[in-house]
Amino acid sequence: MKTIIITGGAGFIGSHVVRRFVNNYPNYRIVNLDALTYAGNLENLKDVENASNYVFEHADITDEAAIEAVFSKYKPEAVIHLAAESHVDRSISGPMAFVKTNIIGTVNLLNAARKLWDGNWEGKRFYHVSTDEVYGSLGEEGFFYESTAYDPRSPYSASKASSDHLVRAYFHTYGLPVVISNCSNNYGPNHFPEKLIPLAIHRIQNNQEIPVYGKGENVRDWLYVEDHAAAIDVVFHKGPNGETYNIGGNNEWTNIDLIRLLCKIMDEKLGREVGTSEKLITFVKDRAGHDLRYAIDSTKLKTELGWQPSLTFEEGLPKTVDWYLANQEWLDRVTSGQYQNYFKQQYQER
Ligand code: NAD
Ligand code: TYD
Repeated sequence: MKTIIITGGAGFIGSHVVRRFVNNYPNYRIVNLDALTYAGNLENLKDVENASNYVFEHADITDEAAIEAVFSKYKPEAVIHLAAESHVDRSISGPMAFVKTNIIGTVNLLNAARKLWDGNWEGKRFYHVSTDEVYGSLGEEGFFYESTAYDPRSPYSASKASSDHLVRAYFHTYGLPVVISNCSNNYGPNHFPEKLIPLAIHRIQNNQEIPVYGKGENVRDWLYVEDHAAAIDVVFHKGPNGETYNIGGNNEWTNIDLIRLLCKIMDEKLGREVGTSEKLITFVKDRAGHDLRYAIDSTKLKTELGWQPSLTFEEGLPKTVDWYLANQEWLDRVTSGQYQNYFKQQYQER
């Protein structure tokens, strides 16, 4: 049995990756290592928490001793590293948490893997999950390629860029078997409602204003979260050491067009008169240093490893709205903060 530590498994994308690996690979023991920050929610994994090949470890990647202890306890053959501070607006108001978790935390994991594997790289893998935001901001044309020079512009993207560089440095300097992927914006179930799509869904539902930064002209390339998890699966199993893969949906939307589409879908699903929800759109002060456009070219992943997204936005967005409407309790518990008691109830009071 192969042991894989997945960091950040209680978060949005991490929970989809954990579920996929627990269900599809009964021969892997999946250790979900997560500090359960405000963004970590073990309720995301209720359906797999009792699986025999799943275990949760409550640990903070900034804590060197705790990370070494988890590595020596489980002796993993692989790491899939998703734990991060992930919200750009929070990085603007408090950059230090991003430096600590995204940079120092990543180095702690690299060191723990290097120490445990001790030059026996055969069958080992350190997979670092990153973002397209490291490439900076595009104008109206062009795409991010794997060869695009890094040009991060927010504390979030600068901290992720830094971690990517360190992961590559461990490959070149020590030979650590690493692979990296840089993905565009994800959406789907279990997305924390501080990010644009779940925030807007929640606010439309409650007839509250939908805050759109600036003029809503910024462009993002959206990918359904399960398609990202599928890409991670492919890169993990087939990507050669030292390689980087861009992952994207080829699905660019200005924020305002996206919110208008969401309003239309929600009017229909909530039985509201057409145009009702659009009235909630409110233009607010722009984000500082707001990147204009992200667009990913994922030809390398498609041609070399055979990945394709399975859902179009026109399919994925209504499916996402359906999930939120059917999981009102999840949203209520996240917005009220109750989800943070789940760990205690589930793991400490038994
Ligand atoms: P998230 O904020 O939803 O979840 C992050 C998880 O990491 C949480 O469970 C949190 O508890 C955990 N965590 C945070 N700090 C930790 C620490 N110090 N120690 C241990 N665990 C800690 O994030 P997400 O949106 O699921 O993103 C996951 C990864 O994917 C991140 O590395 C992010 O940079 C990358 N990414 C995200 C997107 C996106 O659109 N959300 C796109 C591309 C790449
Ligand atoms: P977000 O979901 O925070 O992802 P990222 O900044 O990592 O791309 O934001 C997506 C886009 O939506 C981004 O251009 C900022 C914008 N935005 C708003 O207009 N209003 C909001 O309330 C939020 C959270 C984001």
